[in-house]
Amino acid sequence: MLDRPRRLRRTPALRALTREVHLHPSQFIHPIFVHEREDEQAIATMPGVSRHSVAGAVAQAREALALGIPSVILFGIPDHKDAHGSGAYAEDGIVQRAARAIKDAVPGISVVADTCLCEYTDHGHCGVLCGVPGQTGADAWTVDNDPSLDLLARTAVSQAAAGADVVAPSAMLDGQVGAIRAALDDAGYGHVPVMSYAVKYASAYYGPFRDAAGSTPSVGNRATYQMDPAGGYREALREARLDAEQGADTLMVKPALAYLDVLSLLKREFDLPVVAYNVSGEYALIKAAAQAGFMDERRTVLETLTGMRRAGADAIITYHAMDAARWLQERA
Ligand code: PBG
Ligand code: ZN
Repeated sequence: MLDRPRRLRRTPALRALTREVHLHPSQFIHPIFVHEREDEQAIATMPGVSRHSVAGAVAQAREALALGIPSVILFGIPDHKDAHGSGAYAEDGIVQRAARAIKDAVPGISVVADTCLCEYTDHGHCGVLCGVPGQTGADAWTVDNDPSLDLLARTAVSQAAAGADVVAPSAMLDGQVGAIRAALDDAGYGHVPVMSYAVKYASAYYGPFRDAAGSTPSVGNRATYQMDPAGGYREALREARLDAEQGADTLMVKPALAYLDVLSLLKREFDLPVVAYNVSGEYALIKAAAQAGFMDERRTVLETLTGMRRAGADAIITYHAMDAARWLQERA
C-alpha cells in the first residue's frame, strides 16, 4: 500500500498537531544597543534597529517583556574609548547604568550583559594588545591573552554588581570562562550564570554590528582569537568542552545560519542549553531582501528561526525578536 504522508498535511489543524518544532517568544533574547546620549539613532545597516539612550533601553525592555520575551542582551557604545577598554568595567559605564535602570523599572526581565572589550578599546580589539617577540609586520602584535582575562573578569563582576542576571563573554580568549567564573564567585556573585560565546567564528556576518557599535578593529582583524570557519568539528568540540569544563552554564554558536550543523553537534554532545546567535548580517540579509520586495519578511524570519530551533537551539539571540513575537501572537 502506498505510504501517504500527505494525510497529515491536509488541514492546518492536522499540521499543528503533528508538528515537532515550536517557536515561542519565551525562547528569544532581544539585543539592545545603548549609548551615552539622550537621543535614539537609527542604524543604517540594520533597518528597524537603533542605538538607544538609557531611557530608551528601559522602554525596549518593557516592550520585550510585554510581548513575552523574557530576556534582553545589552551592548554598550561608550563615548570614550581607550587602549584598555576601561569603559567596560567602569562602575558608571553605559552597560552598568542601563542594567541598573532596566532592573529597577522592569524587574521581571532577565538582563544579559555582553562581556567584552571591543566596543570600549580605541583599537577595537576584544582585549589589550602586546608585541610578539621575534615577529615583524602584521605578526608583530596580538591580543595579550592573560592580562585581558583580568579586565574581562572585572567587567563581568561590575556587570553583576549593576544587577545583570547573566554575563556573556564574547572575546574568544583562552580561559575567559574560568577567569570570569572565579571572579564572580569571589565577589559574591555565585548565582550569576555564564552564557559563553563558546563557538564563535571570525565572520563577515558581523559587519552591520560593528557599524552599529563602532567596534571594527582599526588594525588587523579578529582571526587570531575568533575561530576559522573552516575549522571543522574538532575545533568546535574542543572550544565547547573547554568552556563546559571552566563552568559555562550555557553554550553558544555564532553566527547561526552558516553553522547550524555545529549547533546540532553541540546539542547532541553536551548536556548544557545551547544558544544560537542570529547575528546582524543574517538580519540585514532578510531586511534588505524584504525591503527590495524580493521576499516575504514575516515568512522568511519565522522559517529561519524555526530552522535554528530544529537544529537544536534552546534560545535564540535575534534582532527579529520583537517582530517575531508579534507575528507569533497574531498567529496564535
Ligand atoms: C564582539 C562581538 C561581536 C558581535 C557581538 N559582540 C562580533 C565581532 O565584532 O567580532 C556580533 C554580533 C552581531 O553581528 O550581531 N565581542
Ligand atoms: Zn569583542
